[in-house]
Amino acid sequence: MVDVIATQHLTIGFGATRVVHRLSFSIAAGEVVALVGESGSGKSTVALSLMGLLGRSASVEGSIHLSRKNGETCDLLTLPERRLRAIRGNDLAMIFQEPMASLDPIYRIGAQITEALAVHRPMPQAALRTEALRLLRSVAIANPEACLSAYPHQLSGGQRQRVMIAIALSCQPRLLIADEPTTALDATIQAQIIDQLRQLRAETGMAVLFITHDLGLVREIADRVLVMYAGRIVESGPTEAVFGAPRMPYTAGLMRSRPRLFAETPVRIEPIPGNVPNPAHLPPGCAFHPRCAHSQPGRCDSGTPEPEACAPGHQVCCLRWREIVA
Ligand SMILES: Nc1ncnc2c1ncn2[C@@H]1O[C@H](COP(=O)(O)OP(=O)(O)OP(=O)(O)O)[C@@H](O)[C@H]1O
Ligand code: SF4
Ligand SMILES: [Mg+2]
Repeated sequence: MVDVIATQHLTIGFGATRVVHRLSFSIAAGEVVALVGESGSGKSTVALSLMGLLGRSASVEGSIHLSRKNGETCDLLTLPERRLRAIRGNDLAMIFQEPMASLDPIYRIGAQITEALAVHRPMPQAALRTEALRLLRSVAIANPEACLSAYPHQLSGGQRQRVMIAIALSCQPRLLIADEPTTALDATIQAQIIDQLRQLRAETGMAVLFITHDLGLVREIADRVLVMYAGRIVESGPTEAVFGAPRMPYTAGLMRSRPRLFAETPVRIEPIPGNVPNPAHLPPGCAFHPRCAHSQPGRCDSGTPEPEACAPGHQVCCLRWREIVA
């Protein structure tokens, strides 16, 4: 499978503070990759960097190679804003947690969807309307005609979320980035939207980067998972391998904080002690060491763990993973 997106040593800072450190990962066509980790680990920062939407206060180093629909491959970090605009909403689309971030309050929903469609898939007006209705149905909008003539404020939060998803999907992107897209939706609608994403990736080979705190959803839809802690990917691999045999104590901790998903019999919820460190004051060595039950003084607080393969396609950043397994 060709990679739709591949980052190399992606490093992001705000002022003097680095919040993302040398991230290298790729997503193949048709693949759903989940990015998980506690609040503040850097997930949205990574997502925004792929979209070129971090703003001027951010410094970004490394590379982000995108394979476009037109066959060309480019490093997004070297492109001028004018070319990035042509790529956003065409090869790349993003669903934000907050729908008002991408809906314009002064235009009707119909105008916003058809405008997005017309930019990248020119077609006659009547066809635009038919396609807009189809998209709204695909995200489970019950009365799509009424929705087309509504303004954003006339819709419920869940409806706005679904309209935004419809707009993101309208251009049939090569890569869809979904940053906690379904948190505001009830379970039935969430399932319907996940089905829609599955269908699109089967039909169009769309790749998906899915950011969520919902490990149950990750298990359900992701082919691979990237676990992020303090701006680094600390474990990655096929979803079943990572959840079936987590090798980084942090991943195991995340799972223990959601035991119902992973244990056959009821077990106690065990939150990970302590907090995510402030990126301006990262602990030396393994950034997780102050919270890790396996931390070894003199070792975990001095050497920075590098990614190591612990099984095919499964990588872990932990100095002690072999001893812990044994
Ligand atoms: N524009 C910014 N300026 C300065 N610091 C920022 C900026 N955006 C994010 N950060 C910092 O970068 C770190 C990572 O934030 P980010 O929003 O990427 O985390 P996240 O993993 O998406 O968290 P959540 O799960 O809560 O959405 C945090 O410490 C945050 O305070
Ligand atoms: S390197 Fe040490 S502190 Fe970090 S996760 Fe592994 S055992 Fe824990
Ligand atoms: Mg976020």
